[in-house]
Amino acid sequence: MQRTVLAESLLGDGRTLQIVTAEPWDAQTLSAVILDAFGHRPVIDPPPPALAETPDTVIAALAQGFGVLALVDNEPAGVVIVSVEGDAAGIHRVSVRPSFQRQGIASAMVAVVLESLALRGVHRVGLIARAEFPPVVAWWQRHGFVEIERNGTSLHLARELPVCVMARTAEETQDLGRRLAGLLRAGDLIIAAGDLGAGKTTLTQGIGVGLNVSGAVISPTFVLSRVHRPLADGPALVHVDAYRLGSPAELYDLDLDASAAEAVTLVEWGTGIAEGLADDRLEIDIRRSLDPEDETRWIFLTPIGERWTAVRSLLEAL
Ligand SMILES: Nc1ncnc2c1ncn2[C@@H]1O[C@H](COP(=O)(O)OP(=O)(O)O)[C@@H](O)[C@H]1O
Ligand SMILES: [Mg+2]
Repeated sequence: MQRTVLAESLLGDGRTLQIVTAEPWDAQTLSAVILDAFGHRPVIDPPPPALAETPDTVIAALAQGFGVLALVDNEPAGVVIVSVEGDAAGIHRVSVRPSFQRQGIASAMVAVVLESLALRGVHRVGLIARAEFPPVVAWWQRHGFVEIERNGTSLHLARELPVCVMARTAEETQDLGRRLAGLLRAGDLIIAAGDLGAGKTTLTQGIGVGLNVSGAVISPTFVLSRVHRPLADGPALVHVDAYRLGSPAELYDLDLDASAAEAVTLVEWGTGIAEGLADDRLEIDIRRSLDPEDETRWIFLTPIGERWTAVRSLLEAL
């Protein structure tokens, strides 16, 4: 039967990883993968509900949302089940079979799930993690989840989902930056992610136009950071390229704190490096289409902290 491929990449060993939609007729496979993954974890009390999964319970769960299946050279390797209710979603049964672990398959599945939820207009996603497995909790925290509440050893973790905007051309991406600038004020931090050539600098050019700052916004690859002063009222734009920076310590050496309060600070390649500059931030991730002929970009805007969650509806209207 025809499958919908949501993402495709190569693993370190050259095998092909595909993330596809999980269908009800996969139920046998899905429950087998879930039992294999959870059955190999250390025993905890009470046992995780995943250990009671059957094809029937999987079909029932899929009807509450959707699922994704990871295939490695067509062999089932991982599963995630997602429940959706209005603008909130839950992630369940994140499973990678033991023989396929430590190759980034869970991260790849979760990335696809978060994107799919954002495209559906879901705002917030949560999950239950068990305190008995600190590395698992830390893994979710690295994926942007924070602890909401704790019930015994069950931790409720959640995160905000990005707002997704499509830009068909470089001009549309610049235009989005120009409109986004209308929401920006001094002290704001933006962290921009996406592969080389995704359009981070192109978007920043639009922000520079919208903020009406001096100097052309260009790739600051050789100069690590560049300050664009305001031509009229409004904040300066500090444009940083963290591509060559290995650690937050090197970023601090740039002395960005000195200007942060009066400027909008935008850090390209800042993921994992620049988060410490401000608790509240707008994270931007730019994705290209899977089709190399297609120049469309999907621009994901994730509001982090009160400053940005408060203006989520304005981001959605951009
Ligand atoms: N829809 C689009 N959005 C952004 N850039 C696009 C788009 N289509 C084509 N491009 C081109 O892709 C390149 C993006 O480069 P750049 O903004 O420097 O990326 P990055 O800073 O992410 O490495 C530019 O040459 C731009 O003209
Ligand atoms: Mg760039």
